Formats: sequence, structure tokens, C-alpha cells
Amino acid sequence: MPAVKFYELDTSRRLQMLVDEGLIDERDRATLAPSRALPEDIGSHLIENHIGAFPVPLGLAEHFLIDGRALRVPMATEEPSVIAAAGNAAQRVARSGGFHTRASRRGIVAQIVFRQGDGVGGDASGNRSGGRSGKRGLASFLAAHRREIGDVADRAHPTLRSHGGGLCGIEVRRTGEFVEFDLLIATGEAMGANTVNTIAEAVAAYLSARLAGFDLLMAILSNKADDQRVHVEARIAAADLATSTMPGDEVASRIAAAARFAEQSDLRAATHNKGVMNGIVAAALAAGNDVRNVVAAAYADLDAEQRTWTSWRVADGGLCGSIDMPMPIGVVGGAVSTLPVARLAMTMLGHPGADELMGIIASVGLASNLSAMRALVTQGIQAGHMHLQLRSLAMTTGAQGRELEVLTRRLQADPSRASLERARVSLDAIRAEHASKGEASAGRVHTADGREMIE
Ligand code: MEV
Repeated sequence: MPAVKFYELDTSRRLQMLVDEGLIDERDRATLAPSRALPEDIGSHLIENHIGAFPVPLGLAEHFLIDGRALRVPMATEEPSVIAAAGNAAQRVARSGGFHTRASRRGIVAQIVFRQGDGVGGDASGNRSGGRSGKRGLASFLAAHRREIGDVADRAHPTLRSHGGGLCGIEVRRTGEFVEFDLLIATGEAMGANTVNTIAEAVAAYLSARLAGFDLLMAILSNKADDQRVHVEARIAAADLATSTMPGDEVASRIAAAARFAEQSDLRAATHNKGVMNGIVAAALAAGNDVRNVVAAAYADLDAEQRTWTSWRVADGGLCGSIDMPMPIGVVGGAVSTLPVARLAMTMLGHPGADELMGIIASVGLASNLSAMRALVTQGIQAGHMHLQLRSLAMTTGAQGRELEVLTRRLQADPSRASLERARVSLDAIRAEHASKGEASAGRVHTADGREMIE
């Protein structure tokens, strides 16, 4: 009998195979069981070799006021404090009028790349023998075929025009041995990666048949999304930045200095940008978008001259910040339309258009950046994060419900000594107390100096 191939099985048979092989047990099988959040038929049609779901916590960042609209923004993240931090900054921004966004979506560029064959007298004017392959030859070839290329593109995706999309620009360039045709394709409200690649391959086949002496190397969209940009601005009154020990204008000045330092230091910019991405990735993921695309486009926008997407300065009696970045997202098609939780997130956002979603995601990025910097330049990052970090550590032990709260508070009593090992020992003690004395004793917490607190 031929060996059963893993990829040919359905999900439940794959799981059975893993149980039979001893790779997972019955409990693991139950952990991977489909849910309403991700039914089996959706998961198994989205990816290959599907065995279950990998749920990431979903939360709502509160207090966002974006272009005059109050919103709770869904964020999917496993990192403690990211959602609270975004909501905290959003609240400060809201007091001064909220975030103001501007988005432009011209389309996605697809590259069709040819390599000039060895010793072949390629003719870019369309003749199959002899002729020029220089810059002018390519330009006139493109001019002569522009209309037909448009028809090929429309035929490759017949409904795109009716959704406000389609091929809207072509450029040709030569770089060394390569000749590249760049198609700018508008994708309506969709992110449109598949659409763009379908059109690119159809146009590539058309060009390939007409460009003798040029070898088609590839046709693929570019993740450098210069034609889908978003800009968001926010202002925070100095008074709304104050801490219990530092006046607001000093906090504003220190945040602006921190932002300037990120513009000068590669080491710092990487971390500064990670703080921005905490918000961007969580909001984009919750909205069912391809976060790899969002991240690739964002980082492709940076260089030694421009190390970050955000900027902050002291002005107008407070702090003014902005974020400017590419944001290739969509609101229809792909996972946005398929994943039940992404659909729910879009419903909670009031079904934004693509421009609006770009503004929402970028606002969350700006808020995350503000919150991180305010903490860094005042009390330091650990003080604010500590409770959530310790709760995360407590969860790692398997503590649940009330014992999770109690364990977190015990760890908080001496945070400098908190470790997974100590948390496990402490959890064992809590459980022993539960078992021997009943529920009430589990509420006793010892502080660092040995005192006992009743909670
Ligand atoms: C942690 O996830 C993000 C921060 O490091 C960002 C920053 O340093 O700006 C706090």
C-alpha cells in the first residue's frame, strides 16, 4: 500500500496521524480543535497541511479619536502592555482634538524583469530580428504597445475596472543587464496582491512574445509601496504629558529629544521603530491584513537619511507628532473577508474604507510610539510594564483565574527577584494553601520585607 501523504489528508486525519506517531497526545489534539473563531474549512482552505489554529489575544485599544470619530481599535498581540499603552496615548491625544489622517492610494507596482540574452540582437521596437535595445528603443517599444498592454491587463482581471482599479501606468528602465517594466496597478479597496501578480504575469507573457533577445526572468509585485502612503498628525497639550514628578513641558521636550536621537542612531532607531510596529502590526493583524507586507513596505521606506517614520517637536504649547509611511492594506478580499475575527474587527471599526483603515493603523502606530517614549524619558519602561510583565510570567506557569491574580501580586511584592522558577514555586505554594486551608488563604500575599497583606 502506498504511504499516506500528510498533505493529502484532511485536518482530522492529519491530527490522528500525529497522535499515532506520538508527536501529540489527546490533550494536544483538543488544544488544536477548530473553533468558531477559525472553523476547520476556513483554516484548511487558507493554508496547506493545516492542523489547527494559533490564537493570538485580541483586545481593544480605547480612546482613539481619529478624524473626529471616536473608536476602540481592535489589536491582536501577545505582548503585554501594547494595547494599554496605545489607549493611554490615544486618550492624551484625544484631549487635544485627536489624530488627523491623510491617505493616498494610487496603486501597487509590479515588476516585469527581463535579462538581455548573450549576444542576441534584441529588438525592443518589436521586430524579432536586428534593431535597437537601447533606452530609446525601449521607450518607443512601450509607446507603440501601450494600448495593447492595457487590453492584456484588463483581460487578465476583467472585473477590476468596475471596482475602480486597473492598470494606470507603465514605465520601462534598463539597469545593467536587466530591463524592467514597472506596471502601476490600482486595486480598488483590496490589497490586491493576487490581482496584481495575475496581471503582471499576463503582461509579462505578452511582452515576452514580442521582445526577441530578452529572457523573461520574473513578474511580481513590489512590496515597496510608495504609491500607498499615509500621513497622520497629532498634538498633545503639555499639561497632558505631565507625570506626578515631571511637568508636562519638560516631558514634551524630552520626548522631542528622544525622537531626534532616534533620527541619529541606528541602534536606537531599531527600537524606536519596534515601538511603532507594536501598534501597526497588532492593528493590521486584527483587521485581517498581511502584516508581512505592511512591515516590508514600512522598512523599505527607511535609510540612513530617514531612520524612522515618526517625528516629534515641541510646538503650540505642547508636543506635535506625525507619522508618514507606506501602508499597503485592503478592506476586501483575502483574510479580511475570510477570517471570522477579522470580519468582526472590521465591523467594530464601522467597516472603514481602505484610506480610513490606513489612517487608523498609522494612528495606532503613532500612539504606541508616543506612549513608549513618554515612559522611557520619565519613569523608564519597566515601571509601567511591570504589572503586565509579571502577569505574563505568572501565566507561563499555568496559573489561572484567581490563582493567577494572587501569583501576580506575590511576584509584584518583590519584582526584582521574579523569575519563572520562583513563580512556579510560588504557584505550588498557593495551590498547597488552597488545598490545606481553603480559598481564603490564597488571598494572603507577602511583601518584599516579609509583611503579609490580606487582599
Ligand atoms: C517594547 O516592545 C517597545 C519599546 O522598546 C519601544 C521604544 O523603546 O521606543 C518600549
